[in-house]
Amino acid sequence: VNWSTLDDLSPALGPDSLVVVDTRVLRLHPKLQTALHGHPVLGLRAGEGAKSLRTLERIGHAARHVTRRGRLVAIGGGTIGDVCTVAAHLIKRGIDLVHVPTTALAAVDSSLGGKGAVNLGGIKNALGVFHQPQQTHLIKSLFRTLSPTQHREGALEAWKMVVTLDAGTFKRWSQTEPDFSTLIQQARRLKADICRRDPFETKGLRVVLNFGHTFGHVLESATAFRMRHGDAVGLGMLCALDIGVALGVTPRAVAQRVESALPLMPRARQVLAMTFKRTSRSFIEGCLRSDKKRESIDPMMVLLEAPGRWRLAPVPPSTWQKAVRQWSRGEG
Ligand SMILES: NC(=O)c1ccc[n+]([C@@H]2O[C@H](COP(=O)([O-])OP(=O)(O)OC[C@H]3O[C@@H](n4cnc5c(N)ncnc54)[C@H](O)[C@@H]3O)[C@@H](O)[C@H]2O)c1
Ligand SMILES: [Zn+2]
Repeated sequence: VNWSTLDDLSPALGPDSLVVVDTRVLRLHPKLQTALHGHPVLGLRAGEGAKSLRTLERIGHAARHVTRRGRLVAIGGGTIGDVCTVAAHLIKRGIDLVHVPTTALAAVDSSLGGKGAVNLGGIKNALGVFHQPQQTHLIKSLFRTLSPTQHREGALEAWKMVVTLDAGTFKRWSQTEPDFSTLIQQARRLKADICRRDPFETKGLRVVLNFGHTFGHVLESATAFRMRHGDAVGLGMLCALDIGVALGVTPRAVAQRVESALPLMPRARQVLAMTFKRTSRSFIEGCLRSDKKRESIDPMMVLLEAPGRWRLAPVPPSTWQKAVRQWSRGEG
């Protein structure tokens, strides 16, 4: 990881750039305001609502002055990064993209790998592109305003990679909680390696990054995105572990070890129970059907064989339906 400072940003700014920035980050960081002063800037409110066609339109208008050789600088969390990735892909049929992730989640995950998407109605990431960033600046001072919850969300995406890809780091992290720099460094290393080997998700490798996301997306949709992405992925990993146990892929002892290591939200199992109790089976089925990773009639899920060893497997309806009933009762 190369840590940057605000000064390192200045070569990326200028008349042939558009900076798209999370207005909250701008408000919290007066030095960032100073650094951006006098440059073309579009402020956006972050959140799933930002990942929309309407936002793309706004960015497109604001970037009218940018030439084919210009660049889009995205300063914010995963939602700003995702919509800017799509915009950079479309503006002048593709301009340079500079990521400045400001959430832990964006630093460990979304600012790496070139994926961007917008939502369509309730369908998460319905329209997306691959567009690799030319530069990524990780600026430590910008992360200082993150809350413990925001740190947890990034940590959960980092654990997702460690649990599925790196048994040694999983063991170390289970014994001693990693500090922020280590967390970002290790997770980026693991993700970069996967994306290098499977840049366009055609080789069956990159799908591992979807661990916890099948039911994570169901939970996000079921709560109309009130449950935040990282937390939903955390609970989604519990679901994937339980489904793995039910299908005989995940040994129960492994599932228990991983569950107790994950930095989940407080009362995770109760939250899971409450959410599923309120959600109809047909709604869940609809979400699973729209899951892009689905290649067969049954939803496909990344399941854990052991720390660092995973497998993609079809999940028969009877299995997930039984699991949903158990989750609703608060059982694992
Ligand atoms: N493209 C990918 O490969 C990929 C990977 C993982 C997740 N994602 C996407 O990322 C999104 C989630 O990212 P996110 O959690 O960063 O969302 P986000 O952009 O909504 O940010 C979360 C919250 O943090 C605030 N925030 C941002 N930086 C801050 C700072 N420095 N201090 C204080 N508050 C700050 C934002 O204003 C927002 O309220 C989801 O849409 C998910 O689908 C994409
Ligand atoms: Zn994610």
